[in-house]
Amino acid sequence: MASVPGPYLNSDKSSFAYTSVTKRWPAIIQQIADDLNGAEGDERAAEERPKLTDLLFSLKQDLETDAVISHLPAEAIDSEIYNSEIDAYQESSKETLKWHSAPWLLSECYLYRKIQHFFDSSKYWKSYDMFGHAKNTTFTKSSDAVSSLADRYVKISEQLGETLKGADHATKVAALELLFHELLSTSLWGNATDLSLLVTVSLEELKKLQVAAESRDKEMLLANDFEAVWKQLNSQVGGRVDIVLDNSGFELYTDLVLTLFLLDSNLAEQVVLHPKSQPWFVSDVVPRDFGSVISMLADEKVFPEQRNALNSIVEKLTNYMNDGSIVIRTSTFWTTSLPFWEIKENGKAKGDQVWRDFRASKLVIFKGDLNYRKLTGDVMWNRDTPFTVATQDLAHANIPIVSLRTVKADVCVGLPEGKGASLAAKWKSEHPDQPEEAWSWSGSYAVISALTKS
Ligand code: F6P
Ligand code: MG
Repeated sequence: MASVPGPYLNSDKSSFAYTSVTKRWPAIIQQIADDLNGAEGDERAAEERPKLTDLLFSLKQDLETDAVISHLPAEAIDSEIYNSEIDAYQESSKETLKWHSAPWLLSECYLYRKIQHFFDSSKYWKSYDMFGHAKNTTFTKSSDAVSSLADRYVKISEQLGETLKGADHATKVAALELLFHELLSTSLWGNATDLSLLVTVSLEELKKLQVAAESRDKEMLLANDFEAVWKQLNSQVGGRVDIVLDNSGFELYTDLVLTLFLLDSNLAEQVVLHPKSQPWFVSDVVPRDFGSVISMLADEKVFPEQRNALNSIVEKLTNYMNDGSIVIRTSTFWTTSLPFWEIKENGKAKGDQVWRDFRASKLVIFKGDLNYRKLTGDVMWNRDTPFTVATQDLAHANIPIVSLRTVKADVCVGLPEGKGASLAAKWKSEHPDQPEEAWSWSGSYAVISALTKS
């Protein structure tokens, strides 16, 4: 096995890690404090606000002053796992873990775990979603994209009906492949929406990104294993597909439409959706977001256009959820900082449970940037490292997977030799004031990278 390079570090000014620790995370903490102080709550809850605000500001100060990253208190969820990762890093690097020089992935996951612990330790804010307000408000602003996808889905359903009724086998398969390709691509580019970037990108810019995403040309897709994915999906009628979700709002909506298609077409008889069990990286889906997103889709005041199409989507989703065709399943494994190399028979921190669960799946779809960072360990692989190498033990775990990711962080593998250098040179010539590897933080590029069963 190829030796594993070192992790991306917050001290590296040529990596997005540096901008994250110095700018994005303090701004995210500030936003949480602002939202907390504007949030509804009865008198008793209000009394706890100053303490929570102090804890948030003290964490913000730790970031700003490059304080030591200390162990999580024993009672915090997964404290043993986080604390042993901290110890292991300190032992191997012979350095004390500090905010400005820590590994990017470990410190970023720790940040969200620590913030959740503040709320877990309160009396009245345990189930508060500190990003709920931001997630819901942003979704209400995507109405153009929401209604055009609803309209498109109705047309796809009609095409699907025709296809399933008539035609010979080969024509049916070809039509299903085309439709699947379209919805997979919508779900992929739906990942261009990520609220944790909102701190530095305006909402208008983000909206443009979303719309422009639909017309991305081939040049922007840096790795494309679509054919292998289709072969895997089509290897069996029905069966189970899993989606390890990323963001709520528009991206979740695209994932739900993909789910509907898989079930309506009988390409899957069950789809298992995996949200996070706690608020995470700002925009990630937690179980209650399903209810919020579905009731917003059902609300004509929020989305007045394409009502028939949206009502039909809502009705189908609700039926599939009620009859068990759509299952929602959480695991705390998704909120550790561990790489997905732990999804194996004897994996740590419930990686073994996830592995056993995924053995029943014919395809596991991983959405988004953070999932990709964890698939590849967020270490400094050369850009031409094959995906099968960068995913380490997972490549031998006999689980068919595909990662749908718009590239928003440094790690990116599976590129043809020389492609990384040419992207860097092009970026530098167009953005002379930025580091040359900043092409990989821009969200303009994407990958569809798969591991098929060995
Ligand atoms: O790279 C920026 C960033 O916000 C990272 O913090 C994180 O890896 C990622 O983007 C989140 O994006 P996504 O929602 O696609 O996982
Ligand atoms: Mg996310």
